[in-house]
Amino acid sequence: MTGTAHPQPHNPQEGTHMSTEYSTDGGVAVIRMAKPPVNGLGHALRVGIADGLDRAAADDAVRAVVITGSGGFFSAGADITEFGSDKATASPNLSELIRRLEDSPKPVVAAVDGTAFGGGLELALGAHHRVASASSKIGLPEVKLGLIPGAGGTQRLPRLLDPAVVAEIVATGAPRTAAAVARIDGQLLFDTVVDDSADVVPAAVALARTVAGTTPVRTRDRDPLAGGDLDAVGGKVLRRARGQEAPAVGLDLVRTALTTGFDEGKAAESAAFARLVTGEQSAALRYAFFAERAARKIPGIDAAVQPRAVERVGVVGAGTMGGGIAMNFLNAGIPVTILEMAQDALDRGLATIRRNYQAQVDKGKLTAQKLERRMGLLTPSMQYSDLGGADLIIEAVFEDMEVKKQVFTRLDEVAKPGAVLASNTSTLDVDAIAQFTDRPADVLGMHFFSPANVMALLEVVRGEKTADDVLVTALDLGKRVGKTPVVAGVCDGFIGNRMLHKYRDAAMALLRAGATPHQVDKAIEGFGFAMGPFRMQDLAGGDIGWAVRKRQYAENPDLPRDEIADELCEMGRYGQKTGAGWYDYESGSRAPKISTVVHELLERFHHRHGTDKQEFSDEEIVQRLVFALTDEGARILDEGIALRASDIDLVYLAGYGFPRYRGGPMFYADRVGLPEVVEKLRGFHAGDVVDGKPWEPAALLVRRAQEGASLT
Ligand code: NAI
Repeated sequence: MTGTAHPQPHNPQEGTHMSTEYSTDGGVAVIRMAKPPVNGLGHALRVGIADGLDRAAADDAVRAVVITGSGGFFSAGADITEFGSDKATASPNLSELIRRLEDSPKPVVAAVDGTAFGGGLELALGAHHRVASASSKIGLPEVKLGLIPGAGGTQRLPRLLDPAVVAEIVATGAPRTAAAVARIDGQLLFDTVVDDSADVVPAAVALARTVAGTTPVRTRDRDPLAGGDLDAVGGKVLRRARGQEAPAVGLDLVRTALTTGFDEGKAAESAAFARLVTGEQSAALRYAFFAERAARKIPGIDAAVQPRAVERVGVVGAGTMGGGIAMNFLNAGIPVTILEMAQDALDRGLATIRRNYQAQVDKGKLTAQKLERRMGLLTPSMQYSDLGGADLIIEAVFEDMEVKKQVFTRLDEVAKPGAVLASNTSTLDVDAIAQFTDRPADVLGMHFFSPANVMALLEVVRGEKTADDVLVTALDLGKRVGKTPVVAGVCDGFIGNRMLHKYRDAAMALLRAGATPHQVDKAIEGFGFAMGPFRMQDLAGGDIGWAVRKRQYAENPDLPRDEIADELCEMGRYGQKTGAGWYDYESGSRAPKISTVVHELLERFHHRHGTDKQEFSDEEIVQRLVFALTDEGARILDEGIALRASDIDLVYLAGYGFPRYRGGPMFYADRVGLPEVVEKLRGFHAGDVVDGKPWEPAALLVRRAQEGASLT
């Protein structure tokens, strides 16, 4: 639909007001939201829209209204920085504003050109008609902050779209394109979806003209649509929500919309929102949201420091990690040269990358065309000189200092000046690696997690000499390829694995005291972890840790043995890969079964040591595991290995399956209260001795507890 002039403010008096622009176009008033960067529906914008509506109502020449956005955003929703302040509820609040829009006697058409999320979508739902550009994204992402839409979204959307689809949109927070919505049977959400090349506003103005003079139908007066199976959707999304409250509340509200009148449903929605917004889960999820933003700011590095340009990446080593690392860049359209020593290793690496992409094609998540485009960005090589054009090179060869030395010595010879040189090492000293080059300022760690093309976490390891702009480059690039980058200092295990070590110790201590692997896993999974420590070990393979322990025993014969884990490995029970570990696995199955062999192994241990077996509540198991993380996290913070407590939490949320709605080990400890955490930790470690002295919680933890301060 074209042919209508693009409306511009006709004279200065019609121009800007607060955060909106008002203009008229042949009997149609156009209210344009113009509050960069995302048209957040803060108080100023709400007032601007309300004024626009008043003005349109008062002008007899105006017979219909179009409301639209700018800069790629209809509106991204509520202004989250106003949360908890008076501005969030100041009149008109969003629900009032939407009702005013909906009550307009002159028809209102929403012209959605770009993102309409949360409150932004709810605003569009209050209009009487909607026009969108095909790639515009709509969604109700509130659930990601532990909330539900609070301005009528759960009640109006089922009146315009199949309620089963609505349930999924509300409970997962996942966005849809307008084009995809338009294909849903019976949908009334969009009257028209225009091609991306066309302008939405003229189409909306044209529609407004055709409906001018008619009595608008309010969305809230419509009947809910008939639709798909809500129970089936509910089962699926609730399994995925694993204990998070908001998805279930959202689902219930969609059901309510189908069974009660609008006003009753809206009241239920408002009550649910008020309850969730003051709840623990939403507090944790909002904290996590801000933690991600905070992690990108590095104290002492000026915001003006620019990243170095990265247009080509080199990867050394096409093994488990190198292949996955390369995929991240290919996915983002960044060409990669991947280097191996031998042709067969190179062929294997390439075949694995192609197989991973093919699996996505088979699942319908990638087109065959995109697969080829991505593979086309990949250059296999066995010549170091081919890395001369790379702006950043990541090494992912064997975890062996001698091999790293060979690689970095060669990289120093071939890399162009200013190229960033990164190591994916998980245990070696990044400062030592930097010394293999004549340009230690250009070296740092980029520690990806396996599978590297899937896992969000990226620990960016800052060496003693790493230049500021090199650090900024790694953070920026991580963000560009969709990772969650977190800065860590150099130490054994950096942030995540160093803490994981203590978490495993706590899990083993529970076994020695009488708990079973299943009991431990069940408790921590009930807390919301994706997987308990023993299932996790069965997945990763117990042989790696055993090899490390055997080396340590050889180096230090006095080291206390990890009797239970050692015996398990001596039996060849390495986990899923050997069909048995902490659990039994039926052939070809990944489903863990409680093992009598492990039960007997534990009984033998208790018999040998005359264990006075303890009973553990789920709560105690959770606290023993989580506070072990908190304690080591506090040491890491005190040593300056992590820049802030929220970075530590982010590592656990993005890389270790800690439930996001619990905020992370540091946030969780704050919520419990640090004096209680300290007291519990002392109890858990009663009788433990370190360097001849009784075990003590992290000094920082004790200090903050005494001061009445928090970690985060
Ligand atoms: P891998 O053994 O699967 O792959 C290493 C690859 O490097 C092999 O394909 C090998 O042929 C190649 N290679 C060895 N020397 C080379 C050289 N001089 N030049 C070029 N290529 C060479 O090992 P993986 O698991 O990929 O680990 C690589 C690095 O990533 C290690 O530093 C490891 O500590 C680290 N890492 C591993 C994680 C994991 O879960 N596997 C997680 C995070 C880091």
